[in-house]
Amino acid sequence: MIAARVYTQRRLAPGYFLLTIEAPAVAEKARPGQFVRVRGWYSRDPLLPRPFSIHEVAEGRLVLLYQVRGPGTRRLSHLRRGDPVEIDGPLGRPFPLPEEGPVWLVAGGIGVAPFLFYLQKLRENGLSARLFYGGRRRDDLLRLRRFSTLAGIVPVTEDGSRGRPGLVTVPLEEALQKNRPALILACGPPGMLRAVGRLGELYRVPTYLSLEAMMACGRGLCLGCAVPRRGGGYLKVCVEGPAVDSREVDLEALV
Ligand SMILES: Cc1cc2nc3c(=O)[nH]c(=O)nc-3n(C[C@H](O)[C@H](O)[C@H](O)COP(=O)(O)OP(=O)(O)OC[C@H]3O[C@@H](n4cnc5c(N)ncnc54)[C@H](O)[C@@H]3O)c2cc1C
Ligand code: FES
Repeated sequence: MIAARVYTQRRLAPGYFLLTIEAPAVAEKARPGQFVRVRGWYSRDPLLPRPFSIHEVAEGRLVLLYQVRGPGTRRLSHLRRGDPVEIDGPLGRPFPLPEEGPVWLVAGGIGVAPFLFYLQKLRENGLSARLFYGGRRRDDLLRLRRFSTLAGIVPVTEDGSRGRPGLVTVPLEEALQKNRPALILACGPPGMLRAVGRLGELYRVPTYLSLEAMMACGRGLCLGCAVPRRGGGYLKVCVEGPAVDSREVDLEALV
């Protein structure tokens, strides 16, 4: 873990925050799709640092987009400019970068976090992208204006308060019936990942799923992040992921 400091903290919507951390050594090495483990509290509770995707990198700073879920994220949300934090990373494998586009991204809620950095990379490489972005309600769709500078956005909410009503996989399937991207990359809740994995296989599009798992070591040592592999055995999300080819994942076992 290395010592770093909070640069800014901004509340974007109820329960959602954008945390910018001064960490030039980590920012310099970071690649889209990787994550960091962060600890921003002194007590032993919670004991372990929490993993977060790298949302953006700017001027030696790491930007994290997170949702408050439990004690660790609640403590992070109380941090202010200048407060000390500890960071470990960057960890995990970067997202795959195809030679040709388009790339279709599918995000469920806070699963959108790693896609901004990746969209910037796609733009640098001249690859076009579309973002299918689903949430329960309009407050769950974050930074839409920023994302729309980098990709065509298809907003979807379960309650219909913004964009298409229903599940994000419905417009995804409609689009797949007309066109095929070079790659699909999805990040979000397990049910959404399972559905996207199945669609990728049905329409024969290479599909990667960015998996979430509880993490202790972040280095392939503790098996805390193991997810069942298709055909037997386990995938270690921290070192083989977080994004893995959907054909390697036992989709039925995703919880
Ligand atoms: C590689 C990776 C990248 C991530 N990136 C982000 C991100 O960019 N933004 C963000 O908001 N969150 C992200 N997460 C999830 C984040 O790590 C958890 O929300 C956080 O650890 C919760 O900690 P807590 O102490 O607040 O809550 P806890 O008390 O630890 O958990 C609260 C609830 O969330 C569930 N939970 C906790 N961690 C996870 C997890 N990893 N997967 C599934 N369920 C979990 C617990 O079962 C519990 O029900 C990422 C997770 C991984 C593995
Ligand atoms: S978190 Fe320890 S093996 Fe992945």
